[in-house]
Amino acid sequence: MASGVPLFGVTFRNPVLLAAGTCGFGREVSSVIRLETLGGFVTKSVTLLPRAGNPPPRVAEFGAGMLNSVGLANPGAEAVRRERLPWIEARLQALHVFVSIAGHTVEEYMEVVRVLDDGPGFLGYELNLSCPNDSERSGLPFALDPDALGCVVEGVRALTPRPLLVKLAPNTPDFGPVTSAAEEAGADALTLVNTVPGLLLDPRSGRPRLGAGSGGVSGRALRPLGLAAVRQVRALTELPLVGVGGIVRGRDAAAYLEAGASLVQVGTASFSDPRAPERVARRLAGWVRAGGTGLAGGAPARQRPGAGRRLGSPLGA
Ligand code: FUM
Repeated sequence: MASGVPLFGVTFRNPVLLAAGTCGFGREVSSVIRLETLGGFVTKSVTLLPRAGNPPPRVAEFGAGMLNSVGLANPGAEAVRRERLPWIEARLQALHVFVSIAGHTVEEYMEVVRVLDDGPGFLGYELNLSCPNDSERSGLPFALDPDALGCVVEGVRALTPRPLLVKLAPNTPDFGPVTSAAEEAGADALTLVNTVPGLLLDPRSGRPRLGAGSGGVSGRALRPLGLAAVRQVRALTELPLVGVGGIVRGRDAAAYLEAGASLVQVGTASFSDPRAPERVARRLAGWVRAGGTGLAGGAPARQRPGAGRRLGSPLGA
């Protein structure tokens, strides 16, 4: 496996995490993915109240990846605090876990953090500000509106010393304003990128293949967008970056590290092959050992002062 990555006051076993929305809360995949071979994972996005999600079908495959519109289905913050986090703490102590959170308002993000923050089993949060499948806010995710994004990050920052990853959208016209807004509001790292809006039609009926109509594109097709985003944002900030989008092989992960990411996330690839994340971590280690990544594009990431101050015992928090 690749050597450890010190970040946020802890050391990740290797740079490979599972992406939000692809591994539930760990338990759902624990019989098919050897989680202990990875650096950690990001949970399914959690909202304040339970959400049933969008009508089926929620996923559709195509040649270069997948389209999804799950609609942020989740059991809600109280149930996650009560049932899911204790399981993670009891079973996955060596992993570093980020809870993904989502909402329609700044206050909802803050309320989720109020419910979860003294919970066990997780290191920090990934703020999902870029879900393309949520029809509120006139279809404009927070991540495409620097002022709104800044308000969410600032609101959550005031409530928790835990590390905050801010997940951005690939269809951001200019990463400058959202990067500055996230950084100024207290983000500890940026996750690049969420899925990109797309549509698949059944050629016979002409109807959308997803129950919700359009959705978010993930998988191989997303890799060039994710890499371009990481490369662009690397030039804008010294915050650590987490690269996600289309990672199938060790060399894909290596490319993200070359572009400037400190950690990577594997998502869609694990649906068709649950061993893919483990293999990515193993092959990435081989790639690094062979000198395949001199990290040419990756400026050393700066950590926000104090980012790790709560993290002496993050899993027992
Ligand atoms: O539909 C969904 O739950 C997708 C969420 C996301 O991409 O953030």
